Amino acid sequence: MLDSQGRLIDYLRISLTDRCNLRCAYCMPKEGLPLISHHDILRYEEILKITRCISNLGIENIKLTGGEPLVRKGVLDFSRELLKIPGIKNISMTSNGILIPENKDKLKNSGIDSINISLDTLNSVKYAEITRGGELAKVLDAIEVCLDLGIAVKLNCVAICGFNDDEICSIAHLAKDKDLQVRFIELMPMGSAEGYKYLSAEHILSAIKVRYGRLSDHKKREGHGPAVYYKPAGFVGSIGIIHAVSRCFCSSCNRVRLTSDGFLKLCLHYDTGVDLKSLVRAQTPDDELTEVMRKYIYDKPRQHSFSSENKRNDIECKGMSQIGG
Ligand code: 5AD
Ligand code: SF4
Repeated sequence: MLDSQGRLIDYLRISLTDRCNLRCAYCMPKEGLPLISHHDILRYEEILKITRCISNLGIENIKLTGGEPLVRKGVLDFSRELLKIPGIKNISMTSNGILIPENKDKLKNSGIDSINISLDTLNSVKYAEITRGGELAKVLDAIEVCLDLGIAVKLNCVAICGFNDDEICSIAHLAKDKDLQVRFIELMPMGSAEGYKYLSAEHILSAIKVRYGRLSDHKKREGHGPAVYYKPAGFVGSIGIIHAVSRCFCSSCNRVRLTSDGFLKLCLHYDTGVDLKSLVRAQTPDDELTEVMRKYIYDKPRQHSFSSENKRNDIECKGMSQIGG
């Protein structure tokens, strides 16, 4: 459907859990965050009902997120159920990768055709430091597992000043001989990220250009998201840049979010939206639920205000693991 700004909304991010098996320093405090009680987490059949209704509005693409989606039992069976809903064309997932190798067999039949794997450093000591205990080898293995299964891989690297600014080219290099996308994301100033300094897309690109030469000829947009992709000469894969902060791509935003406790969230940066869990648990009929969603999605906020002086009073104060990134 089109929202009031004329944007085509066809993409839903479903956060399946706020739990995560890592504690990335820019995402969560060391001791973790208060967890949503199990009772308040949407059950799979409730998510299926919401997805059925929202698909009537033209949502075709779904991304499963967390926390870490693979810590929730049954995710890879659930993904197949989602794909059975008429109108749903594509299911992808975002994961830290740790649990991918042990789920290889289930992934094969999950219907998931693309996975975003987080990878902020190639140094195992730094990896354990930023994730507070994660094992880099498992993530590297996860990449091979996905490629083996024919699942498209996007590596998400959050660029942080003083942490991985010296590794941009070595991380980008992963796309040289493998058919995958390495995406650099500007750190957004949310939750635990406030204490970190973001590295601008401009910096990232200039580091890549020094190593690989001109990129401008290969500039193109791909996929459903805001990344701009480049393919340096001789690369099998490509490099994506997500100007999450320095450029406002809100005018082409195509997405809404369902949090694990059943809130339809209209924009990453604001807490506006509607509590669908209450409506579902009050046995609201499908057509009514669809109409409620239509009304809220129509009024999706025009843009974020990460770099704006005039902060609105409905700014999101939750962390990424609670909203699903
Ligand atoms: N800014 C940008 N990206 C973030 N992620 C988590 N927190 C932030 C932030 N503040 C990333 C994770 C993961 C994806 C889901 O979001 O590293 O790759
Ligand atoms: Fe977990 Fe992702 Fe947050 Fe890291 S960034 S703690 S992997 S939810």
